[in-house]
Amino acid sequence: MPKSSRLVIFPGSFDPLTLGHLDIVTRAAGFFDQVEIAIGINESKKSLLEPEERKQVIEEVTKRLKNVTVATFSGLVAEYAVSRKAHALVRGLRQAGDFDYEARMAHANLSLAEGLETIFIAASPEYSSISSTIVRDIYRWGGDVSAFVPAQVNDVLNRRRTGTR
Ligand code: PNS
Repeated sequence: MPKSSRLVIFPGSFDPLTLGHLDIVTRAAGFFDQVEIAIGINESKKSLLEPEERKQVIEEVTKRLKNVTVATFSGLVAEYAVSRKAHALVRGLRQAGDFDYEARMAHANLSLAEGLETIFIAASPEYSSISSTIVRDIYRWGGDVSAFVPAQVNDVLNRRRTGTR
């Protein structure tokens, strides 16, 4: 693949996409040719938003980033990345606590797909405590998550809460 068309995959559950994810993808889009946000579908995990809802809202949030696309996948990240001929995976690192899990995942992906590197982007300090898990928890207890997610994601969650979707 010529250097001019290098694709990186940013995999995750994105349930829902947070301002932290948006920060990572925006920065990744600044130095890779093509960034694909790949939403992993895990049928055995109870999710807040359906994969298609996540895909739609992420497309809306990222539409100004012309080299960013959104897709869903099932199965192994490594196999999906190979099928997409991706150059590397991108993951965000927030705190030291992320490193252990992320390093193990990067090593597993490297042994599943030779040469599949994981490139880590350090979260911006203002987003380093945000996670989808915390957002889901606040939301489920009726709290306001608008400080943690893009406005479009907040709208989707509010519509769901008021039953207007
Ligand atoms: O940001 P998340 O929600 O922790 O991302 C999870 C995701 C989708 C990256 C992870 O669950 C995943 O990789 N799922 C696919 C299964 C897989 O490839 N497992 C082996 C990697 S260790």
